[in-house]
Amino acid sequence: MSENRFYTIVDLSHDGKGVIKDGDEVGFVSNTIPDETVLVSWYKKNKKIKFGKLINIEKNSEKRVEPICQHFFSCGGCQLQHLKYSEQLKFKQKKVFEVFKRVGKIDLIQYPEIVGFDDLNYRNKSTFFAQNGIAGFYKEESHSIIDLKSCPIQPEINIEISNFIKKYRYSGSFVIRNHNNKIMVIFENSFKNIDDLIKKFSNIISIYQKNRLIYGERYISEKIKNFNFLISPTSFFQINTKQTENLYQIAKDFLNPLKNETIVDCYCGTGSIGITISPFVKKIIGIELNKDSILDAIENSKINSIDNTEWIVGDATDIIQKEITIEKKTFDAIILDPPRAGTTKEFINIISNSKIKKVLYISCDPATLARDCALFIENGYILKNIKLVDMFPHTYHIESVVLLELG
Ligand SMILES: C[S@@+](CC[C@H](N)C(=O)[O-])C[C@H]1O[C@@H](n2cnc3c(N)ncnc32)[C@H](O)[C@@H]1O
Repeated sequence: MSENRFYTIVDLSHDGKGVIKDGDEVGFVSNTIPDETVLVSWYKKNKKIKFGKLINIEKNSEKRVEPICQHFFSCGGCQLQHLKYSEQLKFKQKKVFEVFKRVGKIDLIQYPEIVGFDDLNYRNKSTFFAQNGIAGFYKEESHSIIDLKSCPIQPEINIEISNFIKKYRYSGSFVIRNHNNKIMVIFENSFKNIDDLIKKFSNIISIYQKNRLIYGERYISEKIKNFNFLISPTSFFQINTKQTENLYQIAKDFLNPLKNETIVDCYCGTGSIGITISPFVKKIIGIELNKDSILDAIENSKINSIDNTEWIVGDATDIIQKEITIEKKTFDAIILDPPRAGTTKEFINIISNSKIKKVLYISCDPATLARDCALFIENGYILKNIKLVDMFPHTYHIESVVLLELG
């Protein structure tokens, strides 16, 4: 595109790329750090925005560390392994602070507090892609597969299983869910050598193929605090179990639930947040679109001997509309933990119009969180508290917990 040149990195973008100001153009380069002088080759340009590849580092940042993974410079999974862990946390605090200002026009008083997790092997679920005798993750911004030799952010045995599967030239995606070394494998397509797989890995307790259970147990299970959770193959579960305990503790502390309160846990998955809070309230009502997850939640209430929960399958906005606008029910607090896209304007308006006092919002996408918080604030809520939990070390992702209260 143009000849290679040296540039100074001035910032990090929301997705962890180094930012370069080049006249009236802005460039983004992976694996670089502010204040570094780097040689860049530009490979893509769209109007005044361009993307470059790092060729060489002329001046290193003292915040740079050796990446822990041999695939870091090509894999699309992690973006921040080259940055000291303490700096990764600062990056995430600054990112949330700035996105609240930019997207939500919300001025936080200071960078939000963050709960870090300076450890590896944390992922309890990964999706692999296999083709032509190789298996692994996609390269950054591409659909070509990296033949994975290691992945330090998940248990080592997952890679051994992936290597075993690729030997049989399986083609398609497969998911490995590993909770405390008990493993569920979910194949998108047919894998012909199930018997060999089971013989080789005795800790595989469940195998699904094309959405059907073909070996072992129906669920994988996990413990959060004193509660047990059964998880179906299609059900969402937080991917960093140790940090989930911290996340749910913060949620409970922010919410400060009272014995006479009825709380709705929207986008509830397997019921994990609602169930951990259930001993402290009168009633929990959970709403979730995935029917299997709701069946898990019903089962999870049962196995934990909890009798003050009700689980409803359906779209969160539709159900909340029915419960509040049509059936005229009243609730003391709402928990919502939607997917990356956030919730709907309609959902926010129904909650606001019914004057629900407390809204506890958990989100893995600061931009949609800031957008939705701005709407709550417009409707009379006050942002009372915010805290971050690093569920995804070495990636640019960050989980936020926000408490909004009616002013
Ligand atoms: C980020 S997960 C949160 C799950 C749960 N709160 C937890 O901590 O494990 C989001 C959940 O929202 C569900 N979901 C997605 N769209 C939905 C909708 N329109 N209405 C209700 N639930 C939905 C997903 O199936 C998923 O279980």
